[in-house]
Amino acid sequence: MALLIVLGLLIPDIEKDVSAEIRRRQRIVTSSVDNLAAIKHPISNPFLKAALEVDDEVDLMPKAGQSTEQNSSLEEFHNDLTLDSLYSVEAPYMPRLLHSLATAPIKKATVFSPGTQFKILLEFENGNFAIAKPMRHKRDFYWAYNKTQQNWQDQERHTAEIASFHLDRVMGFRRVPPCVGRKVDFLNEILMKGKDDGLLDTMTWRGDDICFIGDCAPVFCNKNHTICAENGTLEISVCQKIPGRRPFHEEFNPWNHYITLRDKTSWKYRNICTDILKKQRITRGRFFLDLMELVLFDHLIRNYDRHHYFLVNRIDRNMSFVVIVDNGKGFGNPYEDDIKCLAAIYQCCRFRNSTFNTMLALTKEGNKLGDLVKASLSKDPLAPILLDDFFPALDRRLLMFINEIYKCVSMFGQEKVLVGEHVTT
Ligand SMILES: *[C@@H]1O[C@H](CO)[C@@H](O)[C@H](O)[C@H]1NC(C)=O
Ligand SMILES: *[C@@H]1O[C@H](CO)[C@@H](O)[C@H](O)[C@H]1NC(C)=O
Ligand SMILES: *[C@@H]1O[C@H](CO)[C@@H](O)[C@H](O)[C@H]1NC(C)=O
Ligand SMILES: *[C@@H]1O[C@H](CO)[C@@H](O)[C@H](O)[C@H]1NC(C)=O
Ligand SMILES: *[C@@H]1O[C@H](CO)[C@@H](O)[C@H](O)[C@H]1NC(C)=O
Ligand SMILES: *[C@@H]1O[C@H](CO)[C@@H](O)[C@H](O)[C@H]1NC(C)=O
Repeated sequence: MALLIVLGLLIPDIEKDVSAEIRRRQRIVTSSVDNLAAIKHPISNPFLKAALEVDDEVDLMPKAGQSTEQNSSLEEFHNDLTLDSLYSVEAPYMPRLLHSLATAPIKKATVFSPGTQFKILLEFENGNFAIAKPMRHKRDFYWAYNKTQQNWQDQERHTAEIASFHLDRVMGFRRVPPCVGRKVDFLNEILMKGKDDGLLDTMTWRGDDICFIGDCAPVFCNKNHTICAENGTLEISVCQKIPGRRPFHEEFNPWNHYITLRDKTSWKYRNICTDILKKQRITRGRFFLDLMELVLFDHLIRNYDRHHYFLVNRIDRNMSFVVIVDNGKGFGNPYEDDIKCLAAIYQCCRFRNSTFNTMLALTKEGNKLGDLVKASLSKDPLAPILLDDFFPALDRRLLMFINEIYKCVSMFGQEKVLVGEHVTT
């Protein structure tokens, strides 16, 4: 801790010079890209088009690709989006898209402000955009979720973003945007590629390592939460950005874990499901059953941070699936499970039958969820992504869920609990 010196307080001349040089170079870089060209990436997918045409600000649109190898996987991904999922089961372009996210030259890096924790919007030379989160802790660091380490104080993990993409794909949801690990040269690929005071003014050193505080909610961007590039290298997660400035429609999660214990009407004290099911916006379309699947997903990764959830904006909200983004607070602790994560499921006792069948299959020897996720994650450039203890945790938590569903079935019968694709009530 004694080595952490905020540059603003004690700034040696040499670092001042570096900082000035960085700023000079950044002015050159950013002035040439600030005015994002009007050429639009040819998007033919009607769903994506509908989402973008009414978007008033389309400056985050990918532009026509300059690089033939890399733009094709992006185009194929855009064309693969439907009202049921972000991408298809086969998604033959996926290895290419992930490879491109992991290697494409970075053109611009900007602090990305939505949310409370630090993240960066990356623009690549090939016209694609991604959201990056930095590594903060080693793989064996875990969060206790006790009085001194409360769930809201937990810092995001870049590995959780990567692992969530793989888990979601193995479960067959296909609702988490493609996400991959990458090592970047912090100075040349991030700092030099932006102009953010939020980065430049918050640089510090830890021994020889360059660190920064960043610009985000004060509770997470402070000198107790510095982010450091070891030997100049920073590990990041790189998750595909869905085009458009606000690509998602946001809804409040009634089973939000941050709801205060003072609220005696909340799910923490009573079964709120009957009340929730009176809301038409919840019961129309596939929304409610998707929500139950999201609850299962968050239980598997033990994520307390799902205060809102998202629909693909301005398409057909009634029919759109629930997108699963922002999973950085998952995979915090493989040793303990929390049945409260399943509250919505045991309160509502209703689940999509086909998904339940898939989950049952994922408990069978040779096809276990934990093994499949482990195998899938081993292909990531930053593997190993998770501590091995997480894989049995996934299997254990899946059985907890199945057990809750069986309890529901014994109370209400299979017909009422395990329902069809778009049935909600
Ligand atoms: C990349 O994009 C350009 C411009 O839209 C297009 O002409 C070209 O066919 C694309 N490349 C591939 C390999 O699809
Ligand atoms: C919470 O867990 C951390 C890490 O295991 C431990 O250091 C701390 O003492 C615990 N606090 C409480 C109140 O149990
Ligand atoms: C940093 O941590 C110390 C020791 O735990 C605490 O006293 C201080 O308030 C923290 N500072 C911030 C800005 O959170
Ligand atoms: C950083 O460099 C030191 C000294 O060369 C080396 O021991 C260490 O393993 C390096 N760390 C990483 C993460 O590469
Ligand atoms: C969505 O569903 C609601 C309730 O059934 C209906 O009133 C509304 O017209 C629907 N919207 C669209 C775009 O279909
Ligand atoms: C649920 O799936 C099981 C197994 O395929 C099937 O036997 C049952 O009829 C299905 N129930 C409904 C309501 O579709």
